[in-house]
Amino acid sequence: MSLVYLNGQFMRPEQAKISPMDRGFLFGDGIYEVIPSYGGRCVGFTAHIQRLQTGLDALEIHCALTTEDWQQLVQQLIQRNGAGNLGVYLHVSRGADHKRAHAYPKEITPTIFAYTFEIAAEPQAERDKAPRYKVMTATDLRWQRCHIKSTALLGNVMHHQQAAALGLNECILFDEQGFLTEGSSTNVFIVKDAVVITPPLSHKILPGITRQLLLTILREHSSMPVQERAVSKTELLAADEVWLTSSSKEVAAVIEVDGKVIGTGKPGCVWQQAQSLFCRYKYSF
Ligand code: PDD
Repeated sequence: MSLVYLNGQFMRPEQAKISPMDRGFLFGDGIYEVIPSYGGRCVGFTAHIQRLQTGLDALEIHCALTTEDWQQLVQQLIQRNGAGNLGVYLHVSRGADHKRAHAYPKEITPTIFAYTFEIAAEPQAERDKAPRYKVMTATDLRWQRCHIKSTALLGNVMHHQQAAALGLNECILFDEQGFLTEGSSTNVFIVKDAVVITPPLSHKILPGITRQLLLTILREHSSMPVQERAVSKTELLAADEVWLTSSSKEVAAVIEVDGKVIGTGKPGCVWQQAQSLFCRYKYSF
């Protein structure tokens, strides 16, 4: 039986009820996280909770839970849901007011919701078996605060849907100057002449935890050159390899962008090295 957490209690999903006056519902006024967990072990737990706290601070949402409280909550939720391959979803909205008004209400208690969902088994680094992603590109039409992991995801959802409607896996976005930002739900890396390149952190992208772990792992455990710098669309299309990173995908190989085959049309050699290093070191943070 699956159990969810809402405001201090574990319960069956159908018992979890929130007010329609909740600002998460009315305004998307909240922050969320998705943490992967395999057999009860979370990947990047502390980094995920730090990002959650940074987002809450940015929105001035005062949530009393400490990292230890989150740890306990997440562990209980995982155990109560079978401790298999799980995505742990955490969501803190500003809470429910008695009226709809744009300004932040003063006296308001955040709504805290968490649940788990099944995810695929831990990604491996096998070139023949790894998922192969086909993607499209588009101009990034989201807001100017993409570094905040807000529950207001309509911009991302619409971009993702553009790709899904064409039977594609992801929509890779470029800013108005023609530089790569990220995917609708992933960060993007390219490989050219054995150099691993990804756009630098800014308000235009989410500081992905997988991105952060991967950069640290490559810098500490490989001799691969790594660059954080602007990437143009021409460069992306001419790349030897293109990767997407996210908590559930880890490092995923893209084999086609806008119908153009990338590299050999298969997950590449550098991808294999990067994903194997990721598998090996991802729990060491
Ligand atoms: N998406 N960029 C965006 C816009 C994202 O939504 C995500 C994650 C990422 C990758 O971040 P991370 O490595 O921390 O998972 C990058 C999540 C998983 C989601 O919305 O479901």
